[in-house]
Amino acid sequence: MSATTPDAPSLAKPAPAGANGTPLLEVRHVSKYFGGVIALADISMDVHAGEVMCLLGDNGAGKSTLIKVFSGVHKPSDGQFLIEGQEVSFASPRDALAAGIATVYQDLAMIPLMSISRNFFLGAEPTVGWGPFRRFDVARADRITRDELAKMGIHLRDTDQPVGTLSGGERQSVAIARAVYFGAKVLILDEPTAALGVKEAGVVLRYIAQARARGLGVIFITHNVHHAYPIGDRFTLLNRGRSYGTFRKDEVSREEVVGMMAGGEELEELSHELEEFAHTDRQASTGLASASRDMGRDAADLRPSS
Ligand SMILES: Nc1ncnc2c1ncn2[C@@H]1O[C@H](COP(=O)(O)OP(=O)(O)OP(=O)(O)O)[C@@H](O)[C@H]1O
Ligand SMILES: [Mg+2]
Repeated sequence: MSATTPDAPSLAKPAPAGANGTPLLEVRHVSKYFGGVIALADISMDVHAGEVMCLLGDNGAGKSTLIKVFSGVHKPSDGQFLIEGQEVSFASPRDALAAGIATVYQDLAMIPLMSISRNFFLGAEPTVGWGPFRRFDVARADRITRDELAKMGIHLRDTDQPVGTLSGGERQSVAIARAVYFGAKVLILDEPTAALGVKEAGVVLRYIAQARARGLGVIFITHNVHHAYPIGDRFTLLNRGRSYGTFRKDEVSREEVVGMMAGGEELEELSHELEEFAHTDRQASTGLASASRDMGRDAADLRPSS
């Protein structure tokens, strides 16, 4: 990343369809322990240029821990970490950023009262003038911000408006455009759609697709299969620090992914419990009985249809 050459960002070239080459990022048999807590156990996964890899799992599955390994926050306790086939050991998030790994966290590092273009260039501001007369090059920052966002299909009314006036989805989109512009090869998004409504989530999913089309490898972390399934090329499922495996979209249905994540058996158990309550509590019995029937039906739907 450089403040002096923002006109020529280096972008990874899209890999051929199918992306069979060397992965941009790969972990092999990675484990992470926090004292006695096993946050990750023997995880292997990779992401190629031009694909969206979804990392799915319930609360505490280890998703954030794994991306913190990717982004240089945690060192793995065990296993290998490779960038474009070369083994690496990051000492800090700065090393990961220098290697082209950009992470967009849900609580975006943006300043709401500053303009969109100021936020776009936060920490890498283009300047004009020299010595004591050096100042933020507003016109250039505005132009680049407008152009880069337009390339992602975002057409702003005014790049001078404070970021705080943007919706959650638009803010995520600006963060994605920023990572692409500054030459990220791998874009990691930790739950970018968690706090968004259906329409807003759709907007963010579209920009994820744009980043993929521009040749980035995207790691998309989410709880929500309905957000992951339409956009994902492959899915890695984590459960209590272990991997259920990685599946290509043509290998699993949406229902199977939901089933593996939520555990169809757990829903079934819950439906039996509600039935019991319905027997013991006459007043609430009608409502609970119908809820238990609904759950039983959902659990049946979730069972893989093999
Ligand atoms: N710094 C830490 N020290 C101790 N334990 C930790 C630390 N970070 C994570 N853990 C533990 O590791 C496990 C995995 O946590 P992680 O945050 O990776 O889960 P997650 O899949 O991101 O969950 P969520 O969906 O709730 O964000 C949890 O049991 C958590 O308590
Ligand atoms: Mg998390």
